[in-house]
Amino acid sequence: MSQSAARSNDPLIHHWMPFTANKQFHEAPRIIARAEGVHYWNTSGEKLLDAVSGLYTTPAGHGRREIREAVSRQLEELDYAPPFQYGVPGAFRLAHELAQMLPAGLNRVFFAGGGSEAVESALKVAIQYHRVRGQGQRQRFVGRARGYHGVNFAGWSVGGMVKNRDAFGLGLPGVSHMRHTHIEANRFTMGQGEHGGIDLADDLQRMIDLYGADTIAACIVEPIAGSTGILVPPQGYLERLRAICDKHGILLIFDEVICGFGRTGHAFAADAFGVTPDMMTMAKAITNGNIPMAAIAVREDIQQTILDAAGPDAIEFFHGYTYSGHPVACAAALATLKIYRDDDLFGRAAALAPKFLERIAGMRDLSMVIDTRGYGLLGAVDLAADGTPGKRGFAILRKAFEHGLVLRVTGDTVIFSPMFITTEDQLDEMFDGLRAVLKTV
Ligand SMILES: Cc1ncc(COP(=O)(O)O)c(C=O)c1O
Repeated sequence: MSQSAARSNDPLIHHWMPFTANKQFHEAPRIIARAEGVHYWNTSGEKLLDAVSGLYTTPAGHGRREIREAVSRQLEELDYAPPFQYGVPGAFRLAHELAQMLPAGLNRVFFAGGGSEAVESALKVAIQYHRVRGQGQRQRFVGRARGYHGVNFAGWSVGGMVKNRDAFGLGLPGVSHMRHTHIEANRFTMGQGEHGGIDLADDLQRMIDLYGADTIAACIVEPIAGSTGILVPPQGYLERLRAICDKHGILLIFDEVICGFGRTGHAFAADAFGVTPDMMTMAKAITNGNIPMAAIAVREDIQQTILDAAGPDAIEFFHGYTYSGHPVACAAALATLKIYRDDDLFGRAAALAPKFLERIAGMRDLSMVIDTRGYGLLGAVDLAADGTPGKRGFAILRKAFEHGLVLRVTGDTVIFSPMFITTEDQLDEMFDGLRAVLKTV
């Protein structure tokens, strides 16, 4: 039998897995078959502790009955309706509820299917907003090194992750990147570092000096950069970005796809840091990860400007997705927001955060640990590379799975984002598990 014929019998081969070493995976698959609460089970029935809330998606725990029932009811009542020129009740209800939760002024909500789509939507709103005000020359975007804004063309262009860019050509023109905020002076800081905030934010001013403020549409940042290893903004940083944007008419977009819905101990990172953006993207925990969904929140006057610029019967924003405001996703999101409120889960996240950060900081005693940092229920442990960068990180991911622990690794950084329902004993289990794994790599 030829090698390709033999391979075509491999039951795993047809699924091209995202952000995965596919060839390696086939040699040693890590397949998750069941979940409940803070646990998964693999196909052999072994229990695993989920230290990352799915993929930052599931802070209320896996298998929530309330969401399952809401989804099931919705499927019986209305499975789907077209979102263009028609509406479904749940989408209006959800937008209204989100508007009550969001920072004041951010009260117009546009739905998308995932975080990447939300980012594209926000960037397009920014361009159109300036254009209808006669400022169509504002076409540039400013992002940040080590930022992650999803994988679509505009998103990876404004993002600053080298591997996500380098196989895919030129991307969006007119994008500049500020420096990232992970600096030596703030190493081993829990919470916001004391150093560098103003100087790093002044990178935006340097872009303005170089290109002209009136060419820049928006500046987009994750308040805490998640995917590149929990980079917490130094003190004063977000405030300075806000001030520069205000001075120069540049829109500030917070990508809260990871930070949103309680991860910082507040509803949004904007609340935690006391800085309100002009637009915000959300996804992941909006449905507790149960159904794909994302949203952008837009300042009321930005939406109004776009609506006013169009004729009375005209479509104002030529943009939308087949699954914008999907009724089943809306039902899942409404049930999720109710759980967050009823169980005071953001309060629980805030209460657990100091204990969690203490354990992250406690990893410092290991000689291979070169930095620890965190904020709320987001934490990261940087490890010294073992020869090739990323080799040690990947070994940890694999061994942790064998050890019964699901965590997230980027390069040689281990990321934790526990569920808000995690107990202190389970935190101990996570960090004892990591220590045991680190002894083997
Ligand atoms: C900050 C941020 N923006 C955007 C995205 C993209 O979201 P999605 O994978 O749902 O497209 C992510 C995903 O992790 C993210 O962390």
